Amino acid sequence: MSHKRVAILLSGGGSNMVALVDSMTGDHPARPCLVLSNDAQAGGLAKAAERGIPTASVDHRPFKGDRAAFEAELLKPLIDAEPDIVCLAGFMRVLTADFVSRFQGRMLNIHPSLLPKYKGLHTHARAIEAGDAEHGCTVHEVTAALDDGPILGQARVPVLTSDTPDTLAARVLTQEHKLYPSVLQRFAAGNKAPVLLP
Ligand code: GAR
Repeated sequence: MSHKRVAILLSGGGSNMVALVDSMTGDHPARPCLVLSNDAQAGGLAKAAERGIPTASVDHRPFKGDRAAFEAELLKPLIDAEPDIVCLAGFMRVLTADFVSRFQGRMLNIHPSLLPKYKGLHTHARAIEAGDAEHGCTVHEVTAALDDGPILGQARVPVLTSDTPDTLAARVLTQEHKLYPSVLQRFAAGNKAPVLLP
């Protein structure tokens, strides 16, 4: 069987990347081919290297906001890796429509809210501030619009009265680590039906 090749983009610690990579074994239809970051110091790169996965980084800062120029460099290692699927896993740069269109229908993102609620940043604080009884995370297909695109899965958690953004984020992250591998496995097998957890 030929496996689907998965490239994972991250900016931080990479706990979702680890969950995805650790899931791609046995009869899983995909295997990791690259972990790519906009930050050479991102903790996720070291974790990927420990797991024997090729890594690369392109620092966005020298491009001073020129997204197209940054993305042209980011595309080089990505194209070389020949991914079938691209997973954004805590990748904190906004991508242009041009970049996204190259991977249309095969780029996934995980976002820490129950989309369409709370696109963008500070999702946990915003859910607490709004007095929401539940919160969660969403995996969706990436389109040119930020944190938009067809929903491929969601996981819900309760919001407790004692929650701070950090305690809520930790509860959501635990669910992210279940949701994202579950969605990727289905998606790689050609099934786009949403995964609903728990
Ligand atoms: C995760 O909570 C992910 O949902 C979020 O960043 C965190 C990355 O953690 N992504 C976004 O906010 C995207 N806008 P990780 O590096 O440990 O996977």
